[in-house]
Amino acid sequence: MTTIRQTSNRKTSNRKTSKAAVKRHPRVIRNLPALRRAVAELRARGRKLALVPTMGALHAGHLALVRLAQRRADRVIVSIFVNPAQFAPHEDLATYPRTFAADLAALAKLHTDLVWSPDVATMYPDGFATRIVPEGAAKAGLEDAFRPHFFAGVATVVAKLLLQCEPDLAVFGEKDYQQLKVVTRLARDLDLRTRIVGAPIVREKDGLALSSRNRYLAAEERAAAPALYRTLKECATAIAAGEPIAEVQQRGREAISQAGFTVDYLEARNAETLAPPDAAAKEPIRLLVAARIGTTRLIDNVAV
Ligand code: PAJ
Repeated sequence: MTTIRQTSNRKTSNRKTSKAAVKRHPRVIRNLPALRRAVAELRARGRKLALVPTMGALHAGHLALVRLAQRRADRVIVSIFVNPAQFAPHEDLATYPRTFAADLAALAKLHTDLVWSPDVATMYPDGFATRIVPEGAAKAGLEDAFRPHFFAGVATVVAKLLLQCEPDLAVFGEKDYQQLKVVTRLARDLDLRTRIVGAPIVREKDGLALSSRNRYLAAEERAAAPALYRTLKECATAIAAGEPIAEVQQRGREAISQAGFTVDYLEARNAETLAPPDAAAKEPIRLLVAARIGTTRLIDNVAV
């Protein structure tokens, strides 16, 4: 029921007031009837609506998705929901960073319209018994091999978010490349009105892809972390130059292990289907990696 509304108006008579002082907090919606009313109102006014689904702990990568959504639509809903269904019991649901006040402040700066932030009981009420279990790219043997529960959890919550918000488009980061492919297929297979739009990966200056989990890295782990992207780029160059994929993958895995990681996978895949590439065929290739350092698991990918 909590609704945080603007306390000051963007249009101010005091011309000297700084931009920061007049930023407006987005409207926060926490229950379905209020969301439906807000969405119906926007639709009635013929607004093109975009959704950016997140689990909060927003960083510049998330904010780039919001900006892209703003360029493509009249109104943007950002959902903030840490989805228990996509975490396994041993994973970091309990400790997943929750920074709601800072998230709202960051979204206020971007003049985001609406934040949809249901609690777990709203999303998964007592008796909830329906799950979407995706196949295709969701069974590629990448993230799914290490997090078998993950894509059913993601697909179920994303389908719900898309049905709840009825956006014309929804923006997902290429950072979670397999997720982007799974969600694109899901929207098509379920005949949803929403077009899924992919957004490029936002990186630190040294190449490390921004992630909510980077904050868990100890100083020496953080120093080692750029090896992931550096290695991916080297491997992509070698594959583009015609070196055998199996050899390049092996060399890449060794380089990442040398840097102090335990490699879950480093694989070249068809960029659309995520199937292993056919050595003879000319096809778009994506290189994907997941590796653990200390207690933190990082993922990244590049186009070849
Ligand atoms: P979350 O990890 O919060 O990510 C939300 C969105 O931000 C995803 O589409 C992700 O790919 C994108 N993102 C994260 N880091 C990025 C970066 N460095 N550059 C560009 N985009 C980046 O992904 C999820 O949440 C959840 O699985 C969700 C889709 C919300 C379903 O619960």
